[in-house]
Amino acid sequence: MSEAILLVGGKGTRLRPLTTFTPKPLLRVAGVPFLTHQLARAAAAGVTRVVLATSYLAELFEQEYGDGAQLGLELVYVTEAEPLGTGGAIRNAARHLRSGPGEPVLVFNGDILSGLDIAALREGHRASGAEVSLHLTRVPDPRAFGLVPTDAHGRVEAFLEKPETPEEIITDQINAGCYVFTRSVIDAIPAGREVSVERETFPGLLRSGGFLRGVVDESYWLDLGTPAAFVKGSADLVRGLIDSPALPGAVGEAIVLPGAQVDEQARLSGGTVVCEGAVVERGAVVEASVVLPGARIGPDALVHRSVVGRQASVGGGCVVREAVVGDTAQVGPYNELPPGVRIACGVQLPAQAVRVSAPVAA
Ligand code: GTP
Repeated sequence: MSEAILLVGGKGTRLRPLTTFTPKPLLRVAGVPFLTHQLARAAAAGVTRVVLATSYLAELFEQEYGDGAQLGLELVYVTEAEPLGTGGAIRNAARHLRSGPGEPVLVFNGDILSGLDIAALREGHRASGAEVSLHLTRVPDPRAFGLVPTDAHGRVEAFLEKPETPEEIITDQINAGCYVFTRSVIDAIPAGREVSVERETFPGLLRSGGFLRGVVDESYWLDLGTPAAFVKGSADLVRGLIDSPALPGAVGEAIVLPGAQVDEQARLSGGTVVCEGAVVERGAVVEASVVLPGARIGPDALVHRSVVGRQASVGGGCVVREAVVGDTAQVGPYNELPPGVRIACGVQLPAQAVRVSAPVAA
């Protein structure tokens, strides 16, 4: 038996309005809930039992996966009445673990897409005698992240808050959101209150002389927490830049799920996914985008690096770039949305007058 805890209770505020009715881990990425990719990868790495630590929109997880048999996993659900933070959630989930005190337990953030060799992290942990092994990744610009320097033997030296000055950037290694804990270390996290592993548990272990092992892995890594990252992750999966056993179609420029209708005169590219019940009409161009179930893209519309929510519609002739259109929102024909805009769920934007191209200045 090999066990894992998956943290899926966050509110996903940075992805609003996509997360208004769907928790971030259940949003469709490359056509299936993001969590399905993670669970399939965990199963492929030999994980047999997963405790899902839920809070926000908790009931939707069991509705989606039931007992997990379809994924070849045993799934157990635990819900926090009030979110307990990452450490509190891990501690709360531990009540449902079966591993013995000395056994390794994997812990995953529910929003990280990565090509990490999960089995190697777990087996390396067993051999190392560390209390916790942490997956670290290198990023070109670490300013937005907490830094995790390690010594020549991979021993974590510190957990540093987001650097504010160039001098504080002493490493490009950041916490990648996947850990192996020795079970007894989880049981030592205080129960019944909010705890952050990043800010409290790990620094506390270091202060008391604990051995935290950092494993730098440079395979694909992406935190899907923002709309831009979300569309990139989906497009990268569709184009095969990162493998997933759960991809619902062949790798290529686009995946169209059964039950979607795409006109022969429409063009899909850049790793676009069109989910079931969605319609893409004649002349529409959809690039590197996520078209969620039941959405409609009108004739000659251009949709670029955007997410179109469930049952939402983008009218004919619209230009939608790097935007999020919330569930059931309706963007009337000929709207040109400012890049980066987010349309709240259910909003109706009236049609615009047909645009006539301005003459090009001589
Ligand atoms: P933002 O609100 O956009 O920051 O997203 P988030 O709520 O998902 O927070 P964050 O990205 O920091 O969370 C990292 C992972 O931990 C995600 O998989 C969350 O689902 C999960 N998580 C965060 N806080 C909690 C919590 O209090 N309880 C549980 N069970 N999971 C949590």
